Amino acid sequence: MNRTYTAPSGRGKPKWESAYNTRTDPPASAAMRPRILMCPPDHYGIEYEINPWMNRSLGAVRAVAFQQWTTLRDTLVGLGATVETLAPQPGLPDLVFTANAGLMFGNRFLSSRFKHEVRAKESPVFDAWFVANGFAVEHLPERMFHEGAGDALFCGEILFAGYRTRSDANAHNWVAQSLGVRCLPLELVNPRYYHLDTCFCPLAPGVALFHPEAFDRYGLRVLETHVPTLIPVNADEARRFGCNAVVLGKSVVHNSRCPELGAALAGAGYRSVEVELDEFLKAGGSAKCLTLRLDGEDAAAWQS
Ligand code: ARG
Repeated sequence: MNRTYTAPSGRGKPKWESAYNTRTDPPASAAMRPRILMCPPDHYGIEYEINPWMNRSLGAVRAVAFQQWTTLRDTLVGLGATVETLAPQPGLPDLVFTANAGLMFGNRFLSSRFKHEVRAKESPVFDAWFVANGFAVEHLPERMFHEGAGDALFCGEILFAGYRTRSDANAHNWVAQSLGVRCLPLELVNPRYYHLDTCFCPLAPGVALFHPEAFDRYGLRVLETHVPTLIPVNADEARRFGCNAVVLGKSVVHNSRCPELGAALAGAGYRSVEVELDEFLKAGGSAKCLTLRLDGEDAAAWQS
């Protein structure tokens, strides 16, 4: 079956590309539905500059951001996910990037310790949501920086951990010890790829997307040794945040205009689903940053 889906709205429409992949995901029962936390962009904007993508003079267009965010949410719901929403707060323009709230592990929520004060103000808001929703909220020791699922991603049993720009290697080790998991720290050497989820995306245990230029030789060796199937994302598409993808079974939702990525995913048995999220690229984020998988990522061994 050759199927193309076009979302009702014009801009930011998702594009199903199942020409190479006729497999459909099994219908999710309510109990096993992927559960995702998102925060609507009511107060989103470029109000400070804490990464190379951000430029206050190139502010976001909130109406367009809203429409793109809504298309992403509807796309995820269309793929079987339950999307929970956190109430947006004035004065917290990056609260939309729920991936940075913290790291999930079963019922445990390890709350982030943000490097920048402007984002640290988000933590009480995130913590309150997690407490209200029955999670066990835990904190790292002070003076250790850790930016949650933005920098720590399970691929199988291993927690891959990006450090230098935002999170510290010792914070990752502390988290790994507390969870009782093996952690492999990867130095992020390119300021544009300041969070691990901007340049690495586990698809399943042993399978991941990555952008080679975001790592040093040692990091590349670590990835090659521990992830048997690595799918490279080229420089142009990495800059389009192709690695910053949401994985739901065999569907991989990512920003628009990443044709090589789409073909590589199809070749690996996945379906690429494009949603334009350019308003969020202005803040240095895209699909993955805008979501936090509450029940654990598909690639995390602990989930199943
Ligand atoms: N402006 C935000 C920051 O610099 C973007 C966060 C993107 N999130 C992510 N998980 N990569 O912190």
